[in-house]
Amino acid sequence: MSYFLFQTLHVAGVLGVFAALGAICLGDSEKHRKMATILHGASLLVVLLFGLHLLFSLKLTGSGGWWHVKILLWLVLGVAPALSRRKVLPPGILLGICLALGTVAAFLGLAKPF
Ligand code: HEM
Repeated sequence: MSYFLFQTLHVAGVLGVFAALGAICLGDSEKHRKMATILHGASLLVVLLFGLHLLFSLKLTGSGGWWHVKILLWLVLGVAPALSRRKVLPPGILLGICLALGTVAAFLGLAKPF
């Protein structure tokens, strides 16, 4: 499989994570929130698997600390549904923070700044 395919699948996973987070944070139907939670978990797995595949196949493990930060951001996006359920933050604020963290993760993947 080609490099572009793995990149595309990594980004597809990201799309799934954020579609799901939108429904989890802002949805008002319990059934839909449950389906979104499944999409969230499956998409996170896709992001991680293809992200790690890119990291090792492109021999980027020694390229700096940027990817460690991406794994931390991935973990935060992973606990966001639990924060939403416990109403730790207003739903719009939580979603906004997730979008900002996702943007940072995208920047780190593209720029590999450190
Ligand atoms: C937190 C959620 C994440 C988001 C929003 C995200 C987003 C992105 C985006 C938009 C790119 C640029 C497109 C590309 O080159 O494929 C990228 C690249 C990359 N991501 Fe992620 N990513 C996330 C998590 C991860 C994780 C957990 C890993 C595993 C270590 C990872 C590893 C990589 C690697 C190695 C690249 C560089 C690929 C290249 O240079 O072609 N990402 N990421």
